[in-house]
Amino acid sequence: MKKRILSGMRPTGRIHLGNWVGALENWVDLQDRYDSYHMVADWHMLTTDPGSAGRVAENSVEVVIDWLSAGLDPDKSPLFIQSHIKEHAELHLIFSMLISVARLQRNPTVKEQAKDLGIESTMSYGHLGYPILQAADILVYNADAVPVGEDQAPHVEITRELARRFNHLYGPVFKEPETLLTRCPRLSGLDGKKMSKSLDNAIYLNERPDDIMKKMMTAYTDPRRLRLKDPGNPEHCVILEYHKHFLPESAAEAERECRAGELGCVAHKRQMAGHVADMLAGFREKRAYYEAHRSEVLDIIAAGDEKARATAREVMNAVREAMCLG
Ligand code: TRP
Repeated sequence: MKKRILSGMRPTGRIHLGNWVGALENWVDLQDRYDSYHMVADWHMLTTDPGSAGRVAENSVEVVIDWLSAGLDPDKSPLFIQSHIKEHAELHLIFSMLISVARLQRNPTVKEQAKDLGIESTMSYGHLGYPILQAADILVYNADAVPVGEDQAPHVEITRELARRFNHLYGPVFKEPETLLTRCPRLSGLDGKKMSKSLDNAIYLNERPDDIMKKMMTAYTDPRRLRLKDPGNPEHCVILEYHKHFLPESAAEAERECRAGELGCVAHKRQMAGHVADMLAGFREKRAYYEAHRSEVLDIIAAGDEKARATAREVMNAVREAMCLG
């Protein structure tokens, strides 16, 4: 029997290359080896921005279109939306009684967010409980593992604690899921900072080739290199970083040419823009298809919901039985 994984992504909008190498690429890789469940975490989006409900609903469908276009196969793995499976909410309620407020306040992710957003004293109860909901997402499918980046590891740790606490109080229902760390946890944006939608430094998966070229030309390379023949210092060059990731066979040669002053930044940018545009051609084509066939996407989601719900129901029956609840 294949081991089961549950992966989740918040519907923040269009997916960019950073999301691709940080998560999606890995999910596509894992879908043959694991019994995979892929969830759009729409309720999680509301923990930080409850007023955005309408937009979140639209974005959730867009995320599934991106997943399909990137190669997730709905015949292998259900693609579904968290809020369609009410069992997550029931398990969240039960788990909320098995963890202390102090433990949630120690969670580094929430601490950092509270500081960044200046909401230390106004944070909602639901936002503080973000990791409880995430634990419910994972354990309601009794997943063996969770593919996530480093930043989510504290949430998987809380998930393991909740599984342990439940099993100790009521009997062995849950496994303690492992973290499957993503190979490349982070990709730089065009300005050298982490690629992110809010920093406006991202290349999106559905970007047109001429826009990829324009954006790539603005990328951060060696600022000390003024003339083509100057030897380059590619230590902090985002183009070389992309080269290493997307075209590893020739990265060492490009680095040598850069240092020797044989490969100029503009030529290198042009080469990478062409490669990234080619790499994303299949994605753009599939995306155009699904955009024109939205009802097919809605059917795929409905089928995914159904499969997910069947598993979640089974697990919740075991939970209620262990707790002597109706
Ligand atoms: N918290 C995750 C993020 O921000 C999204 C998420 C929600 C998730 N539920 C999950 C990830 C369950 C893995 C498993 O990226």
